[in-house]
Amino acid sequence: MSGKIPKYFINELLSRTDIVELINTRLSLKKYGKNYQTRCPFHQDKTPSFTVNHEKQFYYCFGCNAHGNAIDFLINYEHLNFVESIEELSIIHGIPIPFENNDSNVLYLKKQKLYSLMETLCRLYQKNIHLNKLATEYLFKRGINKKMIEIFLIGYSDVYWHNFSDKFNINKSLEQDLLNHKIIAINKTGYKYDIFQGRIIFPIQDQHGRIIAFGGRSINNTLPKYLNTQETTIFSKGKTIYGLYQVKKICSKPKYLLVVEGYIDVITLTQYDINYVVSSLGTSTTSEHIKLLFQYTNTIIYCYDGDQAGQNAAWRTLIKALPHISDQKNLKFILLPNNEDPDAIIRKEGRDNFQKRIDHAVTMSRFFFKYILKNVNLSSMDEKFQLSALALPLINTISSDTIRIYLRQRLARMIGILDDNQFEKFLYEQEIKKTTKKLIRIKATPMRILIALIVQNPGLAKIAPPLKTLSKSNIKGLQVFLEILQTCLNHPNINTGQLLEFYRNSKIIHILKMLSKWDHMIIQTEIHNMFLDLLRNIYNKTLEERQEYLISKERKKGLNMHEKKEIWNINKKLSQNKIKLFRK
Ligand code: UTP
Ligand code: MN
Repeated sequence: MSGKIPKYFINELLSRTDIVELINTRLSLKKYGKNYQTRCPFHQDKTPSFTVNHEKQFYYCFGCNAHGNAIDFLINYEHLNFVESIEELSIIHGIPIPFENNDSNVLYLKKQKLYSLMETLCRLYQKNIHLNKLATEYLFKRGINKKMIEIFLIGYSDVYWHNFSDKFNINKSLEQDLLNHKIIAINKTGYKYDIFQGRIIFPIQDQHGRIIAFGGRSINNTLPKYLNTQETTIFSKGKTIYGLYQVKKICSKPKYLLVVEGYIDVITLTQYDINYVVSSLGTSTTSEHIKLLFQYTNTIIYCYDGDQAGQNAAWRTLIKALPHISDQKNLKFILLPNNEDPDAIIRKEGRDNFQKRIDHAVTMSRFFFKYILKNVNLSSMDEKFQLSALALPLINTISSDTIRIYLRQRLARMIGILDDNQFEKFLYEQEIKKTTKKLIRIKATPMRILIALIVQNPGLAKIAPPLKTLSKSNIKGLQVFLEILQTCLNHPNINTGQLLEFYRNSKIIHILKMLSKWDHMIIQTEIHNMFLDLLRNIYNKTLEERQEYLISKERKKGLNMHEKKEIWNINKKLSQNKIKLFRK
């Protein structure tokens, strides 16, 4: 797949990207000496082991060994594939991807076209709302102010498409594009109509602010009350969070994200200055939603109706979230009075009272037991067993050791396991024996140090003497070194992150990655000398190999004139080099 995006372009994107900035908008980095640090997002980290190096454009975690450049970070942190991570960087820098492969290019251009169509139509809907009294009156009646209409790009779709298209001079080609993408449709009698006809339009944006779909609410009791754009290459309901872009604009790392059910709930709470509200648009929570939300916050608070249906929905969300919670990432719930939604409640009780509900949100573990214990009679042995059989598999999906063991402890107490031995057994029996990761020790051979030095300091390439004579040598690892050296020479100012990117899918990437984070213990001021010394040693070693070969040949068959001259030269060079080393 990566071959379809030209390497020069990826290199260009990386040279424009600052990994510190990229990571800092997602995690809070603190400067520590030359590096930046924070708690690692890829494992349960108690101390800040996650290190970002500006010069190398590289991150590394001492705790779990996670490492890589800006692209690797996006792949691992945002759960993107390679192409998606390149897309994300290209959006950040506002430069389109010049795909080499035609199929990818066609799909990419199709997506770009769809974004731009959505954008165009969104603008027209927005203009239209101000021309339509019915629509503005409806919003007024619902208490939505002008500022929210602007922030959430709220619009209106005319009842008749031809009115709408006349009003805004929609040309035939745009109309055809909208038809092709099924944004408007033609009925059996050939009559063109907008799928959202006569509805208030809530544009749905992705986290970058691109319009990817619309939601439309009827204002005259037409059913269904809400309609959504069908799924397309740029819109998937299970991956979309409404309102996230608006929250991000105010704060890139909010303390919480409050998830409510509807568009209007998001808008009203925002109007009441609760600036961290989003919605998953009436769909049930997916793992994708949870992963996306946890990218921006450590605490997700789900808000549900307190009735049975609401509690069941909260439970389903909890089960989806269990594998994603950790010491840092947690989940809470607000259960509202029956049949009330946040929009109605905040208008009734005001912001401060609503804020109290947020402050008193139920923790995940409390809700877990509250829900699971409902209708369980703890004085019946059978029911206790049933409870255990139901709860344990769920608890076991939690990847955080502390939380999993804590919940299991509480469960054990509840079902009355009091005997110490049994308790231990209950707690740990099902614990998967985690093989502790062995720290990989790398043996420091001269060649490894040499490669590590150049990968970690690509600028050293400039000081290397011409090494043509080494190109035939079969010293282990030398050809890898020469290959990297050449790449560094071809791309002056390249950093470690970019260098590794050149070798992403090559055979040597594992060695390079391992050496890129390896602590070779050479102090900064000695790196230059060390690099040159190692090169000299390797050069001598190559000469010595050749010398040995020629000597043995001399004994067996004798040497021709050319070879005699060569051995004479080698002897001279070797003794000169030895003197040089001796003098140093
Ligand atoms: P609700 O029925 O709770 O509506 O649906 P609401 O958000 O309170 O809207 P108002 O206040 O009546 O205007 C919650 C969400 O479920 C989705 C929508 O995203 C809605 O915001 N939904 C609802 C649909 O997709 N289709 C529907 O027919 C109803
Ligand atoms: Mn409502």
